[in-house]
Amino acid sequence: METNWQRQDVTQHYLEKVRGGIPFGAEQAKIMLQVVNHFMPNPKKIMDLGCGNGFLAEILLKTYSNASAILLDHSEPMIQAAVKYMSEYSNRCEIIYGDFSRSIKDFAEPNSIDCIVSGFAIHHLTHDRKQELYKDIYNLLAPGGIFINVEHTASASPEIEKLYDELFIEHLSIHNNRDRQEVANDYFSRPDMNDNILERVDIQVNWLREIGFKHSDCYFKWMELAVFGGVK
Ligand SMILES: C[S@@+](CC[C@H](N)C(=O)[O-])C[C@H]1O[C@@H](n2cnc3c(N)ncnc32)[C@H](O)[C@@H]1O
Repeated sequence: METNWQRQDVTQHYLEKVRGGIPFGAEQAKIMLQVVNHFMPNPKKIMDLGCGNGFLAEILLKTYSNASAILLDHSEPMIQAAVKYMSEYSNRCEIIYGDFSRSIKDFAEPNSIDCIVSGFAIHHLTHDRKQELYKDIYNLLAPGGIFINVEHTASASPEIEKLYDELFIEHLSIHNNRDRQEVANDYFSRPDMNDNILERVDIQVNWLREIGFKHSDCYFKWMELAVFGGVK
């Protein structure tokens, strides 16, 4: 079954109008790097799950010149965008068509990856499958390896969710220099909205702890946007 992320229009809208306007996007990337640097200062093998155009992988490959990366996505238009966006790093990255709603075991050997990241992608899975994926991630990580999820998570109450929506819309409207009501109309009618299966970050951090991740925590959070993970 086709998902909304496999559509050209959804992909293009996200890359052109949303990715650059995500509140605190630069801070999220900075925290990701700071945490990776602390626990795994010289990653050789990186994996980006639901890579999109390679936004997170690019930052890591730019920082770690000895690293190579596996980028995985299940959307053809996103894969094409990644091939273009990552062209400077083509000798150090492998861009793979793959669906992480199934097992990711075929994409790498157990205990082989130093750093696994994911950006705004895993929240499309059911909660059961999220937990299975986190276990698969743990198994693929090398001892000492780190997992960072830059993610859209659930608000603690409907009222906070309402506030998050308002602030996000305001942010996008300023970023794109567009009328607030138009942005709000797009936001609430976006096709991928129904694909979101959000869970609170504190619950997900607990899942990681139960799996065995050490130093698992939420390292940064603004409203529903969180950077969390742990170390094997
Ligand atoms: C919101 S975009 C984020 C892209 C990128 N990680 C970023 O930070 O900008 C979500 C991405 O996850 C991918 N995705 C969603 N479900 C997936 C699945 N089951 N398997 C592989 N990729 C998936 C989508 O195709 C899309 O490229």
